[in-house]
Formats: sequence, C-alpha cells, structure tokens
Amino acid sequence: MNPSKKQVLILAGDGIGPEVSLVAKELLDLLDKKFSLDIRISEGLIGGIAYEETGDPLPKETLDKAKESDAILLGAVGGPLWDSLPSDKRPEKGLLGIRSEFNFFANLRPAILSKELVSASSLKENKVNDLDLLIVRELTGGIYFGEPRGKIQSSEEAFNTMRYSKEEVVRIGRVAFEAARKRNNKLCSVDKANVLEVSSFWREIISDLSEEYPDVKLSHQLVDNAAMQLVREPKQFDVIVTENLFGDILSDIAAILTGSIGMLPSASLNDTKKGLYEPVHGSAPDIAGKNLANPLASILSVAMMMRYTFEREDVALIIENSVESVLSSGKRTKDIAEKDDLIIGTKEMGQEVLSQIDSML
Ligand code: IPM
Ligand code: MN
Repeated sequence: MNPSKKQVLILAGDGIGPEVSLVAKELLDLLDKKFSLDIRISEGLIGGIAYEETGDPLPKETLDKAKESDAILLGAVGGPLWDSLPSDKRPEKGLLGIRSEFNFFANLRPAILSKELVSASSLKENKVNDLDLLIVRELTGGIYFGEPRGKIQSSEEAFNTMRYSKEEVVRIGRVAFEAARKRNNKLCSVDKANVLEVSSFWREIISDLSEEYPDVKLSHQLVDNAAMQLVREPKQFDVIVTENLFGDILSDIAAILTGSIGMLPSASLNDTKKGLYEPVHGSAPDIAGKNLANPLASILSVAMMMRYTFEREDVALIIENSVESVLSSGKRTKDIAEKDDLIIGTKEMGQEVLSQIDSML
C-alpha cells in the first residue's frame, strides 16, 4: 500500500445503500480536505444493481477495482426484486464473494450504546447503560462456505456443511484475544459444542490458544444460551468470538440493544490492512429512496476505516464524537426518534455530522 495515497472503493449496492453511501462519500471528501489524507474515491457495482446491469452480482470490473483499493465501503445488497433468482445470481452472492475473494475473515461488530440513545434500546436502562461489546464473527468459513452443499431436486433434499480447519479457528481466535487485550480482557467463545463436532473442535482450539493469552479471561457459552444472555444481562460481555452463522444471528441481537440496527458499523479485515467496511443493517427496501434511512452506521463505518486501514485513530474519534454531539442535540432519524425529538432525514443527518466535524477543526 502506498502510504500516502488512499484508494477507497465505494460499492453502494441496493435499497438504502446508495443514500447512506452518498453521505459517507461526502464525509470522505471532507476528511480528505481537512486532514490532507490524499483519498482517491472510485465507485463500482455490487448486488442486485450489478446483476441488472451486467448479469453478475459481483462483476469482474468490481473485483479489479477492489484489488486496486486499500479500503472498500459497502452500502447494502439485496431486495425482493431478486428473491427468486438462483443462489449464484442473488445480490448476497456479491457480498459473500467479495468477503471470500479478499479473505476478509475477521468481522468486527461493535455494539456500543450511545448515552443519548439509552431510552431507544429494547431493554431497560440499567441493563444497557454504558453497554460496549464487540462481536468478532468469523466471516469466510463455517456453514456459509462449507462444502459439500446443495439441493438435490430428485430426492427432495438440501444440505450445507459447517466445517472449520484448525488454521481458520486459530486466526480468528487470535484476532479476538488481541481485541480483548485492548479492552477489558474478557473473551467469550460461543459455539454449540454439546451437539456439533465442529463446535467441540472449535472449543478445544480456542481453549488451547488461551494459554498464549493468560491475561485474557476466557469463557465458553452455547449459542442458545448466549442469545438469551445477550438480552438478559448484556453487560456481562466484553468480546464475543464465534462462527459465521452464529455471529450473523447474535450481532443482530446485539444491534437492537443499542437502539437501532441503523447505528452499527462493521469492519471485515484480512491479514493485511485492507478492509471492507459496511453497516450491519440490510438494504431496507421498504424505506429506500425516501430519505428516511439512518446514515450513522455508514458514517461510523468510515470511522472504522480510519482506525483499522488508515491507522488514523484521531480521525476516527473525531467522527465518533461528532455523531455523539449531533445525537445530543436531539436530532434523530425516524428509527431512533422518540416523541420529543426532532426527526430529520438521511441527507440532513449527514449534513449535521459533517458540519459538526467542520466546526470542530
Ligand atoms: C450481514 C448480512 C449478510 C450475512 C447477508 C446480506 C449475506 O446479513 O452482513 O450480517 O448474512 O452475512
Ligand atoms: Mn446479518
């Protein structure tokens, strides 16, 4: 990676993806100017829109652009228009393809409750105030990618395979232990070891690895219990590490604890500094094009990009603090609004955060 030039590829995708990505693009332009970051932005197609225009949810041209980029910012993919397509043409295949092509195996999904949004949470205030947990989801293995898989029309059967190699578990385990070290030194590994061989294998490997991290307190939970514990006593968790599908499910639960899935960013990293940054939310076709979507997850994904790919913790913090101060002014998009709040749209929320950043410097 050229240390000065920063190539960012924006893949806006479907549904609300283009609206929230436009806000992120304006943010990147502003950061570029303010901090002389030398960011170059390119754009590409992914998901349903890519299928419409090229017949492929992940066209080669997009992959080529992604290869040239240091960081990729994704909006969202999917929608009812493409629900009946065969699985290799579905918009989701584009996203899964890019994760796997660049080995973005470590998906970091922080669930942090903004002080300003305590009452928007689905849980009582004392259960969630100061909530700050991190889900480390394995993203390029497990049941999402395991072979064999398929549908056998003749025998009216279908199957998938949850499988992990030792190497895959060790590398995601290391990311999680390291993350816990930078936080409160607590790691909970989530599996289904009472039923699945792949999970008891996962548990053994994580337990062995913990010998290298004696300062991190490791615990194990079964995934059904972990789902319950997340809504019962979420503050017991610091870092959670888990398999791809379990992480998909648990991260939606963690998201709603923070008030709205529209708030949560994510980073998907490989062994280099390259990363794919995307909101945890989906394409929300019901509100697409109506200026209703919450752009904060996309904005906070740019903060994660600054932190992990470009190693600009200072810029990441400025973005995060600006979001917090806009929220404290009582301005809200509809998904996080309560009765006394001033409801504003996607563009306006973007403008608020941008002017806040502008005024801080
Ligand atoms: C997510 C999404 C994706 C996933 C879909 C869109 C393929 O739900 O990022 O959580 O299942 O990983
Ligand atoms: Mn999901």
